[in-house]
Amino acid sequence: MKIAYIPEDAPFNEDQRAWLSGFLAGLHSRLAMNLAAPPPAASGDLAAPRPPLRILYGTQTGNAEIVAGDAAAAAKAQGFDVTVSGLEEIALDQFAGLKYVLIVTSTYGEGEMPDNAELFWEALSSTLAPRLEGVSYGVLALGDTSYDGFCQAGKLIDTRLEQLGASRVVGRADCDIDYEAQAAEWVQGAVASLVTLAGASGTPGTPPPSTVVRSGWTRKNPFPAEVRVNRLLSRAGSDKEIRHFEFALADSGITYEAGDALAVIAENDPALVGAIADHFRVSTETLVDGEPLGELLGTRYEISAPSRDLLSEVESRAESEEFSHALRGGVKEVLDAWLYGKDILDILRIGGDALSLEEFMGLLKPLQHRAYSISSSALAHPERIHLTVASVRYQSLGRERGGVCSTFLADRGSNARIFLQPNKSFRVPSDDDAPMIMVGPGTGVAPFRAFLQEREQRGASGRNWLFFGDQHREHDYIYEHELDGWHTSGLLNRLDLAFSRDQAEKIYVQTRMREHGQDLFAWLQDGGHFYVCGDATRMAKDVDKALHEIVGEHGGFSPDEASEYVNTLKREKRYVRDVY
Ligand SMILES: Cc1cc2nc3c(=O)[nH]c(=O)nc-3n(C[C@H](O)[C@H](O)[C@H](O)COP(=O)(O)OP(=O)(O)OC[C@H]3O[C@@H](n4cnc5c(N)ncnc54)[C@H](O)[C@@H]3O)c2cc1C
Ligand SMILES: Cc1cc2nc3c(=O)[nH]c(=O)nc-3n(C[C@H](O)[C@H](O)[C@H](O)COP(=O)(O)O)c2cc1C
Repeated sequence: MKIAYIPEDAPFNEDQRAWLSGFLAGLHSRLAMNLAAPPPAASGDLAAPRPPLRILYGTQTGNAEIVAGDAAAAAKAQGFDVTVSGLEEIALDQFAGLKYVLIVTSTYGEGEMPDNAELFWEALSSTLAPRLEGVSYGVLALGDTSYDGFCQAGKLIDTRLEQLGASRVVGRADCDIDYEAQAAEWVQGAVASLVTLAGASGTPGTPPPSTVVRSGWTRKNPFPAEVRVNRLLSRAGSDKEIRHFEFALADSGITYEAGDALAVIAENDPALVGAIADHFRVSTETLVDGEPLGELLGTRYEISAPSRDLLSEVESRAESEEFSHALRGGVKEVLDAWLYGKDILDILRIGGDALSLEEFMGLLKPLQHRAYSISSSALAHPERIHLTVASVRYQSLGRERGGVCSTFLADRGSNARIFLQPNKSFRVPSDDDAPMIMVGPGTGVAPFRAFLQEREQRGASGRNWLFFGDQHREHDYIYEHELDGWHTSGLLNRLDLAFSRDQAEKIYVQTRMREHGQDLFAWLQDGGHFYVCGDATRMAKDVDKALHEIVGEHGGFSPDEASEYVNTLKREKRYVRDVY
């Protein structure tokens, strides 16, 4: 039997030729062995090469990556040759050479790009960005309507691509926190449009098999975990209340990795539930759409932070000049300042009897889970997940207030519904010899406790350096014995502490970084990975600034060269952040 021959001038590139040769050789050997097994469904490939599709995601906590994986499965089923990657993995000149692209991105901070999309956006928004006439694209934006910059990252990318001449093949969808159904619909529409455009040769209607492995416990189906440990870490005299929690995984089958986050679905404070019922002069037993009001307010809806709709509705009926000025003035800072320390009950009280109970219920948003960086390694604690949580407590307008989830865990959370939020980009280096530099003041130390447990269990030989800090050493040095123990044992080669209020001048983690800038730069030069976790508003920005300065000073670089050095760290995933 003759092996089929591919003519030299056949219109295949090198990869396609190699694939076809392999396929034909395999086919030949099967025929020769008289096997009845059918060849792979490759007729489409022989007739026309599969159109290439690049799917890119911008993500902080993994949702966009999951949707990108689903889109890839759907597109593959329709005959596309799909490559999926994070936005940090593509340079703009490469992007300009793509034909078909789908981008799924979340928004972070205050209307900002997620970390892994930052460099892509910098290049795309630059005046030097190339024209993109050859690119056909679609953007799916994930976000949260409670933020002012709702889906801002997706909107910006979508608009800029259009400005640069790329062709939008499917309209952008802006998804709120319950993104799953809308995202699935968009994926279907996007793939259908691409099929028409590219003439892909899949089987319409084939259900796309998801390539992403998900735990059975999700936001819609959370695992009811027992909270086995709830221990105060900060000591008497501290301004803060930081607690250590341990969740029993029991027979859930949940497996996690250091760097992942745990989502907790809280229940609202019964006192606040009661006060809202009192405002409407009804009992919590009152049925609303067949369910007791107390149950709905306790577990189903956000009853602390007011939604935009609720604010608008109350404002339009209340006679409060101050409220109207704040809401309608169009100045975000004025509204934020006016709202600071006010919750839904305060707004209801300003409005008096403005709303009926039914109207009020229609203006509430679903209660959202809160994410917490896991502070244990599954290698050390396979049956438990540890969290390190700061309780949010404050007084405002003569009433004690508490953060929904942190005080639920602290005060009432003997059981809690949980699900895992994997964060693949925040991991201990796969190279056990690579140095790790971790900056995690306050609760930011959480994932680094997990990283250190992980490295200890793995017997990893790489050097470890932690910058930790808070206000006072005496009250706020959480996990002191563990950290000091690791320092003594040598697992932590370096431990630099910054307690801001223990001396006249303020000392922060970035102060310590600068003091040891030369060594820090040397660790980076040795292939070190640089991690930051904790406060996004101040700390992460100050640490980023310090890092640039250190690289500039000790590398002998200009500010632009230092930025390029730091950008390279980001591209190599050696500078990653878990900030909130
Ligand atoms: C990926 C990720 C990881 C995280 N990891 C951790 C972690 O490891 N540990 C941790 O503790 N948190 C962590 N967080 C933060 C956590 O998710 C919650 O945001 C935090 O616990 C507050 O939630 P809450 O429900 O208790 O408060 P909420 O009910 O959400 O209330 C918080 C709000 O209360 C208001 N507020 C707070 N203080 C005052 C005040 N003094 N006066 C007036 N108003 C005030 C502010 O508007 C604030 O936004 C993480 C967040 C993310 C996204
Ligand atoms: C700290 C933080 C800041 C956020 N900021 C915004 C924002 O400014 N605008 C927005 O639309 N969504 C915002 N979100 C919501 C996320 O975009 C949304 O949860 C998204 O599904 C996350 O997807 P990812 O896991 O792929 O990052 C924010 C979420 C967090 C936790």
